[in-house]
Amino acid sequence: MRPAIRQKYVVGNWKMYTNAAEARRLAKAVVDGMNMEERVSVTLCPPFPYLALVGEIIEGSRVALGAQNLYPEKEGAFTGEVSPTMLLDLGCKYVILGHSERRHKLGESDAFINQKVKVALAAGLDVILCVGETLEQRKTNQTEALLDRQLTLGLADVPADSLMGLSIAYEPVWAIGNLEHHATPQQAQDAHAVIRHRFGEMFGEKSAQTISVQYGGSVKPDNAGALFCRDGVDGALIGGASLHADQFLAIVRAAISMSQTQENTADTAA
Ligand code: 13P
Repeated sequence: MRPAIRQKYVVGNWKMYTNAAEARRLAKAVVDGMNMEERVSVTLCPPFPYLALVGEIIEGSRVALGAQNLYPEKEGAFTGEVSPTMLLDLGCKYVILGHSERRHKLGESDAFINQKVKVALAAGLDVILCVGETLEQRKTNQTEALLDRQLTLGLADVPADSLMGLSIAYEPVWAIGNLEHHATPQQAQDAHAVIRHRFGEMFGEKSAQTISVQYGGSVKPDNAGALFCRDGVDGALIGGASLHADQFLAIVRAAISMSQTQENTADTAA
């Protein structure tokens, strides 16, 4: 039987960086550097104020638009917040939820993230749910329990028929924006296996085999290939390197090449 080939992702999380001119330049450089390759889903997640202008630049290309957050209500008196409907209106296909910077710097709870996940999926957005442990949690052997908790609470009551619109990003907090400490391919592979196992317990083995799990945390052109060839690593959520079109495109090419290799292997095994 042909082994399951999961969708591969390369997602650029621009965080609170760029200005309008830079956002325009960066998006254009990414679009110009892409061919029509369909094996890897490529997404740009600019800050809210630049979603519309980036959306215009990538229109008609293979690059998708994503947001970095949302508020889990359709509309209302929520000053400063942005609804799923507004994101869809701007052409967003994806939304990143539960990013560690929102959990740790802005105090978002698992329950609040869970609310966002359910509302986003119900609205028709594809959700990238981020999970990951702190250095302290890793050092005290709490990684598995933490991943278990963030998945259990973050995905509570998510309907099985909306799982097609979900992917997970494993982002160890200690590896984000950190050139000294970044996860080894083995650490990423092990954590992804824990995530897939827990996901299987929650939603069944078939869903566990089809859910894509991206890795995030100091992914660069020189370590992307080693990460992507690991079992269960289905792409990357990229911060710093996504602000440089050449680096981002090099990571996209690494994902495409790994995806080709996996398809050839699957064909041989079939
Ligand atoms: P860096 O790639 O800068 O480590 O950021 C990772 C991240 O947080 C992506 O969401």
